[in-house]
Amino acid sequence: MIPRIYIPGDSGALALGAEKVAKAIAGELAERGIEAKIVRNGSRGAYFLEPMVEVATANGRVAYGPVKPSDVKSLFDGGFLTGGHHKRWLGTPDKIPFLAKQTRLTFARCGVTDPLSLESYKKHGGLNGLTNALALTPADIVAQVTESGLRGRGGAGFPTGIKWKTVLDTAGDRKYIVCNADEGDSGTFADRMIMEGDPFVLIEGMTIAGIATGATKGFVYVRSEYPHAVAVMNKAVEVARKAGVLGASVLGSPYAFDMEIRVGAGAYVCGEETALLDSLEGKRGMVRAKPPLPAHKGLFGKPTVINNVISLASVPVIMDKGAAFYKDFGMGRSRGTIPIQIAGNVKYAGLFEAAFGMTLGEIIDDIGGGTATGRPVKAVQGGGPLGAYFPRALFDTPFDYEAFAAKDGLIGHAGIVVFDDTADMLKQARFAMEFCAIESCGKCTPCRIGSTRGVETIDRIVAGIEPEKNLALVTDLCNTMKFGSLCALGGFTPYPVMSSITHFPDDFKPAPVRVAAE
Ligand SMILES: Cc1cc2nc3c(=O)[nH]c(=O)nc-3n(C[C@H](O)[C@H](O)[C@H](O)COP(=O)(O)O)c2cc1C
Ligand code: SF4
Repeated sequence: MIPRIYIPGDSGALALGAEKVAKAIAGELAERGIEAKIVRNGSRGAYFLEPMVEVATANGRVAYGPVKPSDVKSLFDGGFLTGGHHKRWLGTPDKIPFLAKQTRLTFARCGVTDPLSLESYKKHGGLNGLTNALALTPADIVAQVTESGLRGRGGAGFPTGIKWKTVLDTAGDRKYIVCNADEGDSGTFADRMIMEGDPFVLIEGMTIAGIATGATKGFVYVRSEYPHAVAVMNKAVEVARKAGVLGASVLGSPYAFDMEIRVGAGAYVCGEETALLDSLEGKRGMVRAKPPLPAHKGLFGKPTVINNVISLASVPVIMDKGAAFYKDFGMGRSRGTIPIQIAGNVKYAGLFEAAFGMTLGEIIDDIGGGTATGRPVKAVQGGGPLGAYFPRALFDTPFDYEAFAAKDGLIGHAGIVVFDDTADMLKQARFAMEFCAIESCGKCTPCRIGSTRGVETIDRIVAGIEPEKNLALVTDLCNTMKFGSLCALGGFTPYPVMSSITHFPDDFKPAPVRVAAE
C-alpha cells in the first residue's frame, strides 16, 4: 500500500509553516525514491501542535508535531512512515489529551478527511443527514431542527428551527439561504476551520435548510481576510454540483438548490445580518431597522434564512443521528455542542468542541493550560469585542447562554481571549469604545456619537482629569448606548467597558493613585 501522509493546508497551519514542511516532505520522498500520497487535510484545531503531520499506518494514524522543516530528515530516518518514534511523535491523534477530551459532532471530520474529496466525506458519514432529510416533509425537517434545541452560533443564540419555520411559513416566489461567514469576533476561527477543513458539511447544511424552507438559492458571505476558505468553498461547490448534490435535482430528488460564495467588504458591522444583506446586494453595509425581519423580507426583499456557518454545519449531524441524540448534550436551554475557540495569551490555543456546561475555569486552566507567558490570568473576554471581561472570580460560570447572560457576559461565537496580569483594563475599555467608533455604521446617534465621546471621556480619566466625575459620565453614556442603539454593535460595547470598570476598579483609579499602588 502506498503510504499516506496528512499535512494540513488550513490557513492556521500554513501560518505556522505547514507549506515549508510539505515541501520538505515532498523533497525527501523524491530524494529517497519513495512513492507516497500527500493529503492536504484541514487542521484538527490543536494549533499549539501545528504543523501536525500524520501518517496512516497499519495500526491507524500516527501524529507528529509541531513539525519543523529541519525535522523532516530525521523523521524519515526514524521511520515515521510506519509510525516510528521521534521527538515530535504524538501517537494516535484521537488520544492526544486536547483532542481526546472533546465531543466532536460538528467537527467530527475536520482534520480527518480530505476536504475536497466527496468520497472521503461520504465514507465518514457525509450526506447521511441530507439523505434522511429528503425522506421527510419540509415541516418535519424544521420540526427536527427545532426539537434538537439548536440555537444560532453566530452570537444571538436564537433558535434555528423557529427562524426556519418563519421562512417556511412565509410566501415568496423566491427564498434564500444566506450563510454568515463574516466571522469578525476577536479570537474566533471556527467558521474558517470548517470551510477549509470540511466544506461539504456546510454545503450539506445549507442544502437541508433550502429544502426545509423552500429556498432554492444560497449565498455564503465570507470575510475578505479568508482567501483560503473562499478558494476551498468555491472548489467544493463545484465538486458538489458535478456530483448532483447541488443543482436542479438535489441527489435525484424533486428539490433544486444551488449556491454561490461571495467575498465580504471588510467591515465588522457587515457581520450583522441586515448590514450583511445590504452588502450582498452590492450596497454599503448599513444596519436595517427591524421589522421587517429578514425571514419575512430579507435578501432582495425575499424571505431569507440567515444563519452562521456553525449553525448550518451542525444540521447534518442532527438530521443524521436525530434531534434526541443532539439534544442529549448540553445544559439548560443550551443544547448540543459548541466549538470553543481558545485564543489570546494562552498555552494551548485551539478549537475545543464540547457539550455546553464546562466551566470557564475548566476551559482556561485545564484545557487551555493557563497563560502562554506563565503569568496569572487576569481577565478573559468571551463573545468577541462586544463581550464582557470576566475575572477569575467568575471562572465557575458554566459555558451556557443563560449562565453567561446572568453575569452580564456573552457567549457570542464562542471565542475566548485570555489576558495575563499585565493587561490594563482601562486601556481595554478605551479600546472597546474606539473599536465601536471605527466600526460604527453611523446610522444611529448613541453609537456613532456616543463611542467617540466615550473615547474622549476615558482619555480624561487616563489623564487624571476629574476621574470620578468622568467615570460617572462613562457609566451614564454606557446606559444610553445600551438602551438607545439600533443594533448590538452600539448596544453591547458597554459590556466590555462596564465589566472592566466593575471587575477591575483598581485600573480606573486616578493616575497618581495608580502610580502609588504599583
Ligand atoms: C456588529 C455585529 C456583528 C456580527 N458579526 C457576526 C459574524 O461575524 N458572524 C455571524 O455569524 N454573526 C454575526 N452577528 C450576528 C448576526 O447579526 C446574526 O445574529 C447571525 O448571523 C444569525 O445567525 P445564527 O442564528 O445562526 O447565529 C453579528 C451581529 C452584530 C450586531
Ligand atoms: S448601533 Fe452602531 S452599527 Fe448599529 S445601527 Fe447604530 S450606528 Fe450602526
